[in-house]
Amino acid sequence: MKDKVKVAVNGYGVIGKRVADAVQLQDDMELAGVCDVVSDWRIKVAVQREYPVYAFDGSTQEKMEQAGIEVRGTLAELLKRCDVVVDCTPKKIAAQNIEKYKEAGLKFIVQGARSTRLPATLLALRITMTPLWAGNPHGLCRATLLPLSEP
Ligand SMILES: NC(=O)c1ccc[n+]([C@@H]2O[C@H](COP(=O)([O-])OP(=O)(O)OC[C@H]3O[C@@H](n4cnc5c(N)ncnc54)[C@H](O)[C@@H]3O)[C@@H](O)[C@H]2O)c1
Repeated sequence: MKDKVKVAVNGYGVIGKRVADAVQLQDDMELAGVCDVVSDWRIKVAVQREYPVYAFDGSTQEKMEQAGIEVRGTLAELLKRCDVVVDCTPKKIAAQNIEKYKEAGLKFIVQGARSTRLPATLLALRITMTPLWAGNPHGLCRATLLPLSEP
């Protein structure tokens, strides 16, 4: 059997939570971790689900740890431990993250794609995903990640 695809979810908000849960349900995927900047109840949902939690940077990590959250590292470290990133951060942040994903040589999907200069294929992927979203996070996960996990 092929190795599981390691998926990182950057931004654990409305969409990120659902993507992480959907990844967790796949037999051939592994949730490498979720990353965020908050240190309150929002990220504590990930802790309760025993998802590996990462902080955007060192200062965020400190705040999370002060709030009693076990943090595995920063985004930079998460990017070394995954094959694919699903970016669910606000659009402006996502636009800044793209270079990081490219530099790390990772495949990535950006949810807030409209305001960024993404290749047409990624925009097409996002459009394909949209109708699946409403009631089918499992379908969303397969539709978004399968094309990326197969050569
Ligand atoms: N909700 C929707 O229906 C919808 C639909 C289409 C596209 N989108 C896009 O998807 C993206 C996510 O949407 P959402 O509704 O989940 O937003 P959200 O505000 O619920 O979640 C965004 C998360 O990103 C986190 N975040 C902020 N800065 C960060 C950083 N530097 N590093 C890591 N995490 C950071 C926030 O703390 C938050 O948890 C947005 O770009 C949005 O435009 C949303």
